[in-house]
Amino acid sequence: MKDKLEEITEDNRKPYTAAVNTGQYIKKTGLTGKYDNVRRFWEDEVTRLFIRPFLKEAVDRKAQRLERLRILDIGCGGGDGYDLLMGITAKDVGIYEYAVDLINPEQLGFYRGIDINPDLIDQAREQHSTNNKVVFECGDCFDSSFTNSKPFDIYFTSYGTISHFTADQTAALISDIAEHSENDALLIIDWLGRFSYEWQDLWNADRKEQFMDYRISYIYPPEERSQLEIQSFPLKLTCREGATSIINEASRRSGMEIKIKKFFDRSIFVGRHIDTAEYNRHCTPVREAVNSLLEPNIRTDLNTLILDYVPREGFSELNRFFDKFSSSWNSLVNHTIEFLANYGDKTETEECGSNIYHFYPEPLKQAVQTMEKVVKSTGGLPGDSRANIIEPQLAYALRKLEMELQTGNGVGHGLVGVFEIKK
Ligand SMILES: C[S@@+](CC[C@H](N)C(=O)[O-])C[C@H]1O[C@@H](n2cnc3c(N)ncnc32)[C@H](O)[C@@H]1O
Repeated sequence: MKDKLEEITEDNRKPYTAAVNTGQYIKKTGLTGKYDNVRRFWEDEVTRLFIRPFLKEAVDRKAQRLERLRILDIGCGGGDGYDLLMGITAKDVGIYEYAVDLINPEQLGFYRGIDINPDLIDQAREQHSTNNKVVFECGDCFDSSFTNSKPFDIYFTSYGTISHFTADQTAALISDIAEHSENDALLIIDWLGRFSYEWQDLWNADRKEQFMDYRISYIYPPEERSQLEIQSFPLKLTCREGATSIINEASRRSGMEIKIKKFFDRSIFVGRHIDTAEYNRHCTPVREAVNSLLEPNIRTDLNTLILDYVPREGFSELNRFFDKFSSSWNSLVNHTIEFLANYGDKTETEECGSNIYHFYPEPLKQAVQTMEKVVKSTGGLPGDSRANIIEPQLAYALRKLEMELQTGNGVGHGLVGVFEIKK
């Protein structure tokens, strides 16, 4: 009888063990980790929104020629770039529409990812094993067999990949791409920003090329960080001026025109190292607070979002930018706190905008108005509308400030350049 019972118990256990082994049984949270909420709803989205118009032009151009898109992802890591690009939505789609992708899967001809790290390539292959149009290869992107093959329409890099290389190496890589690509090919180049507040201690006025000793310490809980010996590696810090001179040099070497279409900053005040304060002791954990805004069923103490920018002597222009930006950010948070206090538990439909000062920058005026509308119209709805509607909207409103008050000068964790090759 006992043996029979053990057998049955064993049989019952197997399906659960199998399910646990798939990894699908892990309780995921967006509060920490590589794919935290800021990564998914802020960083990926900011990248998508900025590159969307250029990608749309490329998609339309290919469609007119009855051709399909070819994408090369350089330093593709675990293959996340595919989801980033294929997750771009078309602009201004109606709320009634279901299909919103900018690139329909049938419009993609070929996606090739290359990375020097075999473990990451294995991860990328595993992630995309059912997609025949996607190929991941292990190799060095300076091996010109990658760029010499049939030309691609989009040469893509993401999340600081190009910061692994010196200015000279990057100019060589871009020049090689320019020589082997066709007219109108797009180039998306992603560096670490030179003047992020996260590493204010490293700011200097030297025009020389600068590298930081980067530590991926943020993946460990704060209490473990100081106990562990975390390896560092050099990553290049770049501003708009430095990036422009690399592009000019690549253009000179290849003899091709490389047009600058856009520079944008990503994660001003919400970069990974804002929370560690390892390169600037004045930082407070704002990313943690924004992760909480975006997490379902969790309420955030909105005062933890308030920034106190500490200026650095000798950088008056940067101080002016950060002062103005942090004041706009704080003002939006404070208005939201006030709206919650005034209308939190009831819904109202009256006019919004009475609290907006005429000297606010336009994006701040719009963001405050949006928050007033959201709080007034959702306050009395069933469920936790503060945690699940109002707080995520505040995160999107803060994201809007980042997107519309910035200059693309290298003041965020990431600096991205979008370039077009002209032949
Ligand atoms: C910051 S990670 C970004 C990874 C990925 N693009 C993402 O968004 O998650 C930089 C990647 O560049 C790769 N890498 C560095 N040097 C390389 C080289 N010479 N050729 C190809 N890949 C390289 C690294 O292995 C790493 O996966």
